[in-house]
Amino acid sequence: MALDSNAKNAPEHVAIIMDGNGRWAQSRGKPRLFGHHAGARRVREVVEACPDLGVKYLTIFAFSTENWKRTQVEVAGLMSLFRRYITKEARALKDEGVRVRFIGDRVRLDHKLQSLMDELEQLTETNDRVHLTIALNYGGRDEVARATKRLAQDVAAGQVDPETVDGETLARYLDTHVLPDPDLVIRTSGEARISNFLLWQSAYAEYEFIDTMWPDFSRDVFAKVIAGYCKRDRRYGGVKV
Ligand code: IPE
Ligand code: IPE
Ligand code: MG
Repeated sequence: MALDSNAKNAPEHVAIIMDGNGRWAQSRGKPRLFGHHAGARRVREVVEACPDLGVKYLTIFAFSTENWKRTQVEVAGLMSLFRRYITKEARALKDEGVRVRFIGDRVRLDHKLQSLMDELEQLTETNDRVHLTIALNYGGRDEVARATKRLAQDVAAGQVDPETVDGETLARYLDTHVLPDPDLVIRTSGEARISNFLLWQSAYAEYEFIDTMWPDFSRDVFAKVIAGYCKRDRRYGGVKV
């Protein structure tokens, strides 16, 4: 399928819940981690497709605050995959003009992973071709709670007048404070739920739930979802004139 780089109503910010790695592996008689590795290999193709599709910001859900409930083997395997992924992909991301940011609570992640994340953010901080945000130990409710805590501390310290607090104030305390709100949220694997992803930011996002498992999410599948989005009519509570 041809990619339409001129789509004037392309989504500026696409967020993806990369789901279905485990089932993809199990349907092939393989362990779940095999699916996570296949899923990680898909990310580069999707990031590289963004400029052609008119997508400036891509945010991907890699690990949720609830995913710690999984077996120790799976959690340890995922953490090791994240460390390996950052180490292996850093140079290519830098060279391809990708600016990488992480959102989520880093405190619970191991120190080695935290420093790799900091280094990758620094390495790519002058890039501007695509803005890739990786949600790692991220939960929407956790993010709002952490933001509220810091806002309350600033109110207590006399730095913020509580009378002035509105939605924009709170948004400035979120992990995503430098990002626009997502225009389109895609979830793979056939599940139709948001699982605590970007709760505040997706208030007016369009949603697309597709059956494809994440390791099968190709550039063509991505392009088709974007083409579908471009036909939608967003009204933000108003009336189309
Ligand atoms: C998504 O795939 C990746 C993570 C949550 C880390 P899953 O691991 O949830 O795969 P399924 O949903 O069990 O197939
Ligand atoms: C959401 O997928 C989290 C990520 C994709 C990282 P899950 O597989 O964890 O979500 P549930 O458990 O099906 O809601
Ligand atoms: Mg899942």
